Amino acid sequence: MLQLKNWDNKTWLSSDSYINAFNSFLLKKKKLNKNSKILDIGCGRGKIIGSLSRKFKLLDKPIGIDPIVHKDVDKSIDFRDQDIFKFFKINNHKFDLIMIKQTLHFFNKSKRKELIKTCKNNLKKNGVLIILSLNTSKNEIPCFQLMKRKLNRGLVRDSIMLNSANKMLKNTKIDKFKYEVSITKDKYIKMLKQRYISCLINLTKNQINKGINEIKRNYPNKIIFNDILICIKYKYS
Ligand SMILES: C[S@@+](CC[C@H](N)C(=O)[O-])C[C@H]1O[C@@H](n2cnc3c(N)ncnc32)[C@H](O)[C@@H]1O
Repeated sequence: MLQLKNWDNKTWLSSDSYINAFNSFLLKKKKLNKNSKILDIGCGRGKIIGSLSRKFKLLDKPIGIDPIVHKDVDKSIDFRDQDIFKFFKINNHKFDLIMIKQTLHFFNKSKRKELIKTCKNNLKKNGVLIILSLNTSKNEIPCFQLMKRKLNRGLVRDSIMLNSANKMLKNTKIDKFKYEVSITKDKYIKMLKQRYISCLINLTKNQINKGINEIKRNYPNKIIFNDILICIKYKYS
């Protein structure tokens, strides 16, 4: 299995600014209060739901599921490194919000179908399932050539994945979350070295180093771009 360990390891994806912007977007999709029950599938370090947990003083800590146990996982979440299907088998509450953010592509086609169906069945009335994935066209993520080819191949697969998720769910609302990233080239190179994104995981050290030299040549010292996600919202009513 791919192991993505540095996605939210002190990157823009775990910055207060990103989390605040993302959570304001999320709260337009689903209103929450202290009684809300939240599940985040593929939560990483759990910074997003951790922030919601503190903001709403949630009575039940939001549950975050991820196979990777980080030392710095957010303290305000109920983290479980459990297989999601095993979790659903033993779990006995329904959720107001289930989020699958930039994680659905880690499941194969049949598991994805099963996951979406199971999430639907585990929503409370008026509960919401939110699926987010990288924007599949005109993606602005700074890339070297090989990374771009890998990313684009992944995005073609993601586009098929999102279409079929959308067909399965029916009556969805589709929207985009856009965040302007401003990052120094040095910091971005560090993220590339740490293979922050799935399309870098299987590259060799040599391929990464060559790619970094390309980034050094082709990008300015301050890199500015839009990180855009497609959001599918399904509401159980
Ligand atoms: C791109 S990161 C997204 C993290 C977080 N959702 C966010 O947006 O900040 C994908 C996450 O999915 C997790 N993941 C991979 N396979 C998974 C699985 N089978 N079940 C749950 N999470 C998984 C990875 O460990 C990683 O933390």
